[in-house]
Amino acid sequence: MNILEFANKKRRGEKISMVTCYDYTSARILAHTNVDCFLVGDSVAMTMHGFKDTLSATLDMICLHTSAVSRGAGDKFIVSDMPFMSYRKSLSKNASAAQALMQAGAHAIKLEGAAGNTSLIRHLVDSGIPVMGHLGLTPQSVNVLGGYKVQGTSEQSAAKLKQDAMLLQEAGCFAIVLECVPAALAEDVTNSLNIPTIGIGAGSATDGQVLVFQDLLGLSIDFKPKFVKRFVDGFEYVKCAMNQYVSEINSGEFPQDEHSYRSQRLAAN
Ligand code: KIV
Repeated sequence: MNILEFANKKRRGEKISMVTCYDYTSARILAHTNVDCFLVGDSVAMTMHGFKDTLSATLDMICLHTSAVSRGAGDKFIVSDMPFMSYRKSLSKNASAAQALMQAGAHAIKLEGAAGNTSLIRHLVDSGIPVMGHLGLTPQSVNVLGGYKVQGTSEQSAAKLKQDAMLLQEAGCFAIVLECVPAALAEDVTNSLNIPTIGIGAGSATDGQVLVFQDLLGLSIDFKPKFVKRFVDGFEYVKCAMNQYVSEINSGEFPQDEHSYRSQRLAAN
């Protein structure tokens, strides 16, 4: 998938599938799937580094994960998150942060919110950097939002979100993630935009869906918000395989001859 396919898919009424991806091994697996694009999200701070929120993600962290993903991603489209505060400084510092992500292997960057971001978005797009927006529950603002709550539930906040989506489109975003907003609002926003929306906890009417790799594979047992569907019980699969490994070591069943090397002297006998 390339950048033009986002608009084409919306025009054709085809859904866009996106999944977070943080490392080379996962990228190699996902490169062999039908998923359209990868997000090196700032959720990496939580899923891969164990932090309690995304505020601990740094530019170096996202660049390192982006370059690992890019080495395994084949021709998949990679979007990388601009981490907390990395795009709220001077225009030149913000642009340098985006440049670092692109040079690490991203094909586009994502940033949260509209207020105060539109001139940067214009500047990046004019400089050759595609920008994906992110509205609704914007986890980098968790301390302002007062927790991980559904957004746009009142008439006023819904109207504001719709207006922000329009601002992002006008500034040049090629797509917008809508996180944790009522399905009817996501549908309304989706219908009012020319660019595609990609939902997470935003119902089925968005132009695409995104989920966190660990969530959809059932690898994260401590965390299951309403919008997550576990497509496989990955935690149990991995646990069972590990316990089987240990039990075969203990019983002597592993390794067998097929897993062992023979010396030439013995082979000749
Ligand atoms: O970092 C992330 O995983 C995200 C998704 C929730 C869209 O931004």
